[in-house]
Amino acid sequence: MLSSDQPIAAAPPPGAAADWTIAQAWEHYSDAEHATWDRLFARQSALLADRAAPEFLEGIELAGLWRPGIPDFEELSERLDRATGWQVLAVPGLVPDAMFFDHLAHRRFVAGSFIRTPEQLDYLQEPDVFHDVFGHVPLLAHPAFADYMQAYGEGGLRALEHGAIERLARLYWHTVEFGLVRSGGGLKLFGAGIVSSYGESIFALDDPSPHRIRFDLRRVMRTRYRIDDYQRNYFVIDSFDDLLRQTTETDFAPLYAEIDRQPDYEPGAIAEGDVVLTRGTQAHAGEPKAC
Ligand code: PHE
Ligand code: FE
Repeated sequence: MLSSDQPIAAAPPPGAAADWTIAQAWEHYSDAEHATWDRLFARQSALLADRAAPEFLEGIELAGLWRPGIPDFEELSERLDRATGWQVLAVPGLVPDAMFFDHLAHRRFVAGSFIRTPEQLDYLQEPDVFHDVFGHVPLLAHPAFADYMQAYGEGGLRALEHGAIERLARLYWHTVEFGLVRSGGGLKLFGAGIVSSYGESIFALDDPSPHRIRFDLRRVMRTRYRIDDYQRNYFVIDSFDDLLRQTTETDFAPLYAEIDRQPDYEPGAIAEGDVVLTRGTQAHAGEPKAC
């Protein structure tokens, strides 16, 4: 989980290691907590069977997420390590940016270990283990996406030096969290914020409101986003290989300087040069409250 609006915390919270990780304490989950995972898992996997990118669905298999109960991060890490060399580690909450990037750069995905309550099945503010593991882990088993996330971490450490975290956070938001991908002649979901949400898994693909626009690196880094509602725009990548290629073959430093001289795009705006795949009605748009 990435948070760019928090002050740099000097020390990890009590009980956490110097790298902010904690023990998952898997044996402490209650039956009710495991049952919440199972409910969410059953609902999302049924919904996503023909909506999520095939790479995401394969990742569910590879990571062994189909087994009942909240995954044990140690077992999960063994499976992921075999696939792509990634690990999953527990953290108590949001981690400072530099720490988050450093973990990614070392192929360590940090995940919340708590699970939402049954009253929060459809919406919660802070990422829990269902968002972090069900949403993010499957694609970490895919080689190109696994490389993208590591490169993103390395790029994050560089962005900190350029004061460009906000730009880079937008790239994360519009791909890792809310990205769509062209697949088999149609569009499929892959962003973790979408696939871990029942409502947005339907909205992002089927609703006439949002624009669906072809991914463009500069455009995305200039685009503000909403954190309190479904997205106004979804950006569509051609493939994970293409995303990896475009981002790793571009030196972002001159891009940050270039973008600094240009205005931002609002959520829901269409920009000059956009390849609009579906033009939305924006009927869902309410009060603009952008980040
Ligand atoms: N190429 C980027 C840079 O020069 C780093 C990066 C790679 C960022 C992949 C995001 C994803 O900083
Ligand atoms: Fe997330």
